[in-house]
Amino acid sequence: MPAILASAPGKVILFGEHTVVYHRPAVAVPVTQVKVKASILPGINLPPGKVQIEAPDIDLSVALDELDPGHPLSLAVRNVFRELSIARPPAFILRITSTIPIAAGMGSGAAVTIAICRAVSSFLGSPLPDAVVSRLAYEVEQVYHGNPSGIDNTVITYAQPVYYVRDQTPELLKVRRPFTLVIGDTGIQSPTGLAVRGVRERWEQDPGGYEALFDRIATVTRQARQAIETGDLPALGRLMDGNQALLQAIGVSSVELEALVAAARGAGAQGAKLTGAGAGGNMIALASPETAPAVAQALERAGATRTIISQVEPSKS
Ligand code: PMV
Repeated sequence: MPAILASAPGKVILFGEHTVVYHRPAVAVPVTQVKVKASILPGINLPPGKVQIEAPDIDLSVALDELDPGHPLSLAVRNVFRELSIARPPAFILRITSTIPIAAGMGSGAAVTIAICRAVSSFLGSPLPDAVVSRLAYEVEQVYHGNPSGIDNTVITYAQPVYYVRDQTPELLKVRRPFTLVIGDTGIQSPTGLAVRGVRERWEQDPGGYEALFDRIATVTRQARQAIETGDLPALGRLMDGNQALLQAIGVSSVELEALVAAARGAGAQGAKLTGAGAGGNMIALASPETAPAVAQALERAGATRTIISQVEPSKS
């Protein structure tokens, strides 16, 4: 029997991180230069029902039943068994590798779960539909992030640009003109749950002030959707700068992120902002294919530990 393979891309949030938790809209796109791969081999030499998990990136080689049931890899596999009502699976070896940086705002956790759900369900002969994969990944996110908005599992499952409002059916975005993003990593890990709790605490101190800031981010995000759908890239860049100023105001930027944002703008980016949880992790800059290498170089000189140039392509239909 050949190996089963499944993969899931990374993602970046273009607009609306954090406020999406509070039912404001957000825009996110997949990043296919980084991905999680999950492969499955039948466990011909394993005892019946035994599931072996190999995740060399985190030095993990363990049997499923020896793994803490709350571990995200265990939750991902067991969610599929539950969904497919599998009491005793055939023996198999699940191997997971990833090039998505961890705790860096690029959706690594959701991508791992999604790749696993696809690989395991295919191996069991019942590949799960996207909506179910997205829901199962959301359940794992809930355990680890407390109060996830659902944007990560959505954009990574569908692997297309999305306009997302919590508890509403996600809309696929119509990208009118291609645009180039340069992604720069501060190299500082920033757990999403911590950053989300920080915003919650500040919101509790000043609900009126924070609600007003959230509404301003929502306006910027709606305008950004229009800029993407009409191909108005100068406006898109300005809106990224506007979102960054508001993210700073809600306290999720950092000295390192600000340095990278300034370096990108100085090297000709049309706009730049943090992406994801903030307080570390990654930032994004809007560039053109011509300016992107210079922006990436400037980011590296300003301390980025890694840069990725990613093209967002126009929608097919
Ligand atoms: O850091 P990431 O990639 O997990 O992004 C988190 C995005 C937040 O809006 C901060 C949280 C959420 O659940 O949407």
